[in-house]
Amino acid sequence: MKILGTGLDGLVGSRIIELLSGKHEFENLSLSTGADITDRNAILQKIKNSDAQIMLHLAAKTDVDGCELDKPLGEKGDAWKINVFGTQNVVDGCSESNKKIIYISTDFVFDGTKEAYSEEDAPNPLSWYAKTKYEGEKIVQTSKIPWIIVRIASPYRAVFKKLDFTRAILKRLQEGLSVVAVKDHIFTPTFIDDIALAIDVLIADNLQGIFHAVGSQSLTPFAASILIAKEFSLDSSKITETRRAEFFNNRAPRSFQLALKNDKIQRLGVKMKTFEEGLREIKKQGII
Ligand SMILES: NC(=O)c1ccc[n+]([C@@H]2O[C@H](COP(=O)([O-])OP(=O)(O)OC[C@H]3O[C@@H](n4cnc5c(N)ncnc54)[C@H](OP(=O)(O)O)[C@@H]3O)[C@@H](O)[C@H]2O)c1
Repeated sequence: MKILGTGLDGLVGSRIIELLSGKHEFENLSLSTGADITDRNAILQKIKNSDAQIMLHLAAKTDVDGCELDKPLGEKGDAWKINVFGTQNVVDGCSESNKKIIYISTDFVFDGTKEAYSEEDAPNPLSWYAKTKYEGEKIVQTSKIPWIIVRIASPYRAVFKKLDFTRAILKRLQEGLSVVAVKDHIFTPTFIDDIALAIDVLIADNLQGIFHAVGSQSLTPFAASILIAKEFSLDSSKITETRRAEFFNNRAPRSFQLALKNDKIQRLGVKMKTFEEGLREIKKQGII
């Protein structure tokens, strides 16, 4: 299968390519390959010129606090321009060339007022980043092309130039530094290799709709940090607890109860790892 993607050199996309390029042929539309999804005419042309049947759309402004600074600028800020108008451009390019779109979205679309979220639950984004990602979801859902929305959460992997949550904690502990971790916040870390597998199955089964491709364990960042120390035999006494009000003071608003249900994707035979299983796997793969 030929797959045209955006943002395939980011944290998530580059691992998807590593894992699935033996099976699928990828072409990456990203800033690094000279493609800007906010440049409407250019991106439409590039999408139309491709004979890929599938668009895997990951490109986004992903810095949550950075996006919040764009909020006063509204539609003129980068967050809206990239995540909303950019997604509109990608969708329009797909609809003019008959491609199915797989849009990668986020657990942040939920407000954290429910104990756990399924695909049927209504989003209510709190931050500007989440709002722009949800606007992207709506553009995808109301389009005339076949679509899949894959919501992911706190993705981590063994090796990448940019640190994810898991490797950031691990690096500090390995360097003997202290870690301050929030104890009144639930999140659902997701092993990126499982996201790649989920996408592969969604493509193979030719499915449509919303899917939560998230890990099988929701926990606090404090508990996650303790598990990291344990798996890598590091000193957990370096980890101290804090409260979200303190940790996220003066930062973008966040949802703090973010347990997502993943039974819909698991019913397709995709085993989404628990955080403990994911840690064992990245240790095996050799952390960098
Ligand atoms: N990371 C998370 O915690 C997380 C959690 C939930 C959902 N997600 C979603 O998952 C997706 C991938 O996230 P990620 O962490 O892999 O992101 P990332 O590492 O920040 O990568 C973002 C990618 O988007 C590209 N990009 C940004 N602006 C662009 C533009 N105007 N035109 C073309 N390409 C552009 C970047 O290209 P260059 O590298 O060339 O600049 C990069 O390849 C995003 O849609 C994000 O919203 C991420």
